[in-house]
Amino acid sequence: MKSVVILISGRGSNMQALLEADLPCRIAAVISNRADAQGLEIARTRGIPTAVVPHRDYADRASFDAALAAAIDRHAPDVIALAGFMRILTDHFVERYRGKLINIHPSLLPAYPGIDTHERALRDGIKIHGCTVHFVTPTLDHGPIIIQAAVPVLRDDTPESLSARVLGEEHRVYAQAIRWLCRGQVWLNKESRTASDRLEQPGAALVFPGLE
Ligand code: GRF
Repeated sequence: MKSVVILISGRGSNMQALLEADLPCRIAAVISNRADAQGLEIARTRGIPTAVVPHRDYADRASFDAALAAAIDRHAPDVIALAGFMRILTDHFVERYRGKLINIHPSLLPAYPGIDTHERALRDGIKIHGCTVHFVTPTLDHGPIIIQAAVPVLRDDTPESLSARVLGEEHRVYAQAIRWLCRGQVWLNKESRTASDRLEQPGAALVFPGLE
């Protein structure tokens, strides 16, 4: 059975959703760069091995990434899932885990890379927002996309209400992406594109505001 290591920095709701999903793989460990990440406690209570690699203990990004890689490699995972992991990783680290390293981002990439995605979406008045699971490549928030979910942006939305709606979808699509990866149904090909052998491609248009 394939195994997954999850990297977190905080709340860990995506991590929790993955622990609760019925995935065809083993969650080998949860690793955080912060000892106070709430998600660590959730993982521990579920009996998942945890580790902390505090970024402040390292002089630079390269030495932090080397320590992080050592903590990950102890579990020899097939998939490394960033779930609210708030450190920018070096190109060397990203290349080392090519095709295994994935991230969830709270926008429909390539729109709104970076932080404060919900605030920026509301400011722009877009009508459809969402989230993206993608392979991690050296360009931040620009790797090949595996799956996206779209949600309507309601007239009275606040960053909090919009974030909650997007988060609900994050929890569904992250589990789906990992399911495909662990079953070998989705992979990163030589041309650095997401490839899949899934024949069915169910989906539906989201029109918002809806047509009369
Ligand atoms: C999520 O919105 C995720 O998309 C982003 O950081 C947030 C983490 O939330 N990368 P949680 O820690 O999984 O609750």
